[in-house]
Amino acid sequence: MAMGIDRAVMKAAICRRYGPPDVVTIGDLPVPRPGARQVLVRVRATTVSAGDVRLRSARVPRGFGLLLRLGFGISGPRHPVLGAELAGEVVDVGRSVTRFSRGNRVFASLIGCHAEYVAVPEDAAALMPSGLSFATAAALTFGGLTALLFLRDKARVQPGARVLVNGASGTVGSAAVQLARHFGAIVTGVCSAGNAALVRSLGADEVIDHAAEDFTAGRERYDVILDAVGNCSFARCRRVLAPGGRLLLVVGDLPQMLGALLRPSRGDLKVLGGIASVRREDLLLLAELAERGAFKPVIDRSYPFARIADAHAHVDTGRKKGSVVIELG
Ligand SMILES: NC(=O)c1ccc[n+]([C@@H]2O[C@H](COP(=O)([O-])OP(=O)(O)OC[C@H]3O[C@@H](n4cnc5c(N)ncnc54)[C@H](OP(=O)(O)O)[C@@H]3O)[C@@H](O)[C@H]2O)c1
Repeated sequence: MAMGIDRAVMKAAICRRYGPPDVVTIGDLPVPRPGARQVLVRVRATTVSAGDVRLRSARVPRGFGLLLRLGFGISGPRHPVLGAELAGEVVDVGRSVTRFSRGNRVFASLIGCHAEYVAVPEDAAALMPSGLSFATAAALTFGGLTALLFLRDKARVQPGARVLVNGASGTVGSAAVQLARHFGAIVTGVCSAGNAALVRSLGADEVIDHAAEDFTAGRERYDVILDAVGNCSFARCRRVLAPGGRLLLVVGDLPQMLGALLRPSRGDLKVLGGIASVRREDLLLLAELAERGAFKPVIDRSYPFARIADAHAHVDTGRKKGSVVIELG
C-alpha cells in the first residue's frame, strides 16, 4: 500500500479492446507505487482528448491503422488506462524526488491519467498556477504543448507573422490561437459560425466560417498555416502561403506525414509535422502563461468520472469546443 493512502485498490477507466465509447468501463486496479523519481498524484481532474478517442476507437488517419495496432496493441490498447493529462494533489513521493512534496497541487502530461491515482515522473509534472481550478489546470497540456511545438519550435512564429489556425475552436486550435497571439502574430481562426465569437475572444483578429468560405481560395496570404483538422494538403494550401511560408500538419495521413518528414522543403515553402512531447520547461511556461492570463484553456463541459463513456461519446462528435474534462471527487 502506498504511503499516505488508506487503500490498495482504486477506480480506473479501463479500455481493453478498441471500439465505441462503452468499451470504456470503470473498474478496480491496484493503487500504483511511486518509483524513486515519481510522485503519486490523487487525480482531481483529467480530460478525454481527441488522442484518447483515437486510441479507444483505433480510428486514425489513412495509413496509420496498422502502425497503431503494432505500437499500441493488436485488438486493444496494451496500456488499458487512457488519458494524457491530469491535475491533482501529491499524496506520496519517491525517495529521489526533489521538486515536490506531499500536498503540492500539480498538473502533468503522461499516458494513463484516467484513474484515481497516477504515479507521475517528476519531470512530467509542474506546480499548478495559483488561482487555477483543477479542471482548468488539467486542460493545459494537450493543446498547450502541441501549440508550443508547432508555433514556437517548428514555425518560429515572430511578431507580425500572419498565422491561420484551421480548427481554431478545438483543444489544439484554441491553444494555438492564444499562443500565436502571445507570440505577437496576426491570427485568423477557421471554425464554424457558432464558434466565431469564442475564437475572437481568444485573440483571433479574423475568423473564417469553414461552411461559408474556403480559406484556400481567398485573397489573404499566410506565413504560417496550422492544420488541426486534417484537411489541409500542401497542394490545397500552397496558393495561400506567403513566400517562405510554413504549413504545420498537426494531423495528416501517412503519405502527408512521410512527405513532411522526408521532404519538408518545397521551394521556399515548408511542410512540417511532428508529435508533441513533454518537457519540464514547457510545463513551467504554460503554468506561467496561465497565471498571467495569456493562456486560458477552453473547457467545453465536464463529466463526473462515472460518466467517462459519455465524455468519449461527446468527443467522438468531432465538434467539441476546447477540452472535455472529467472531474474526480
Ligand atoms: N501531432 C500531435 O502531436 C498532436 C497533438 C494533439 C492532437 N493532435 C491531433 O490534432 C487533431 C486536433 O485535436 P483537437 O484536440 O484540437 O481536436 P478536437 O478538439 O476534437 O477538434 C474539434 C474541433 O474541430 C473543429 N472542426 C471540425 N471540422 C472542421 C473544419 N472542417 N474546419 C475547421 N474546424 C473544424 C470543430 O470546430 P467547429 O465545430 O467550429 O467546426 C471542433 O471545435 C486531432 O486529430 C488530434 O489527434 C496531434
